[in-house]
Amino acid sequence: MNLDALNKIATAMVAPGKGILAADESSGTIKKRFDQIKVDSTADNRRDYREMLFRTKEAMEKCISGVILYDETIRQNAKDGTPLVRLIVEAGSIPGIKVDAGAKAMAAFPGEQVTEGLDGLRERLAEYYKLGARFAKWRAVIDIGLGGDRAIPTYGCLRANMHALARYAALCQEASIVPIVEPEVLMDGDHDIDRCFEVTELTLGLLYEELYFARVPLEGTILKPNMVIAGKKSAKQASTAEIAEKTVKCFRRAVPAAVPGIVFLSGGQSDEEATENLNAMNAGYRKIMPWALSFSYGRALQAAPLKAWSGKAENVAAGQRAFLHRAKMNGLAQLGTWSAALEKAA
Ligand code: 13P
Repeated sequence: MNLDALNKIATAMVAPGKGILAADESSGTIKKRFDQIKVDSTADNRRDYREMLFRTKEAMEKCISGVILYDETIRQNAKDGTPLVRLIVEAGSIPGIKVDAGAKAMAAFPGEQVTEGLDGLRERLAEYYKLGARFAKWRAVIDIGLGGDRAIPTYGCLRANMHALARYAALCQEASIVPIVEPEVLMDGDHDIDRCFEVTELTLGLLYEELYFARVPLEGTILKPNMVIAGKKSAKQASTAEIAEKTVKCFRRAVPAAVPGIVFLSGGQSDEEATENLNAMNAGYRKIMPWALSFSYGRALQAAPLKAWSGKAENVAAGQRAFLHRAKMNGLAQLGTWSAALEKAA
């Protein structure tokens, strides 16, 4: 393993003013997104949609450091025959790949899930490297609430998921691929922000313990976490200022300074919330954060372009404008210079 080379890629993934486009929706998830705009989820439609995003030159060159792809997409060609991976590389962005096989019900742990996909991973990573991937993603899902009559998450579920993440990360580094480790504490419940803080801190504590025992040098990794935020169904929603303060406080406790960068998932926040919260952290706390703080948004970058496109070739320019705007706004949030006025000026 060449740790300097891994660290160089990880650092480029969190370059100033840039972040990651998560375009790695599985076949099931992209179908759900297409259902919302009444478009059939065919291989050609999926290609057309993603080609539209990757050909948004200004967004890709100025604001998108890397793109997370799905197995189908990393093998797909644009309509004119150019590999989609080449479009990304030519824009100066880094191709990445989702390698987990999804979260499955965990035996003996009602209501909890464990992410699968370690079997054959070494061979798949070698192939993905040849196809151009220089980083990968594995997502563990942690739910807050009740599983049967027990409070979840349980220690057993957290331990199993963080162990799998560490095993995945070691295999990635062996293959010269930077692992994005993504332990997502879901915002689906009715818990308040302090419960999210407690669960996120515990999750990250266990993650870095497992990474240590798996001999994963953190300089060659990126963390993709949730923000510390109240559950969607909580009656007690937190302000942007409180989300920023508590998220930074939690990470300062739990994320070692050797980690080059932290990129958030949007997790069901609205586009503007995801941008505003990231901006508040970078504007208010940059001096006390040892890592770069950026975005790796799926829905918060794609909801607007998906709607503007709506599956029609004549809407490609409108879809690209919508994508450019969100990419720019999040690029500014990475710098801590976003404002509501700029948001509206589009
Ligand atoms: P969202 O930003 O839509 O949560 O997606 C990011 C992601 O890649 C989740 O794994």
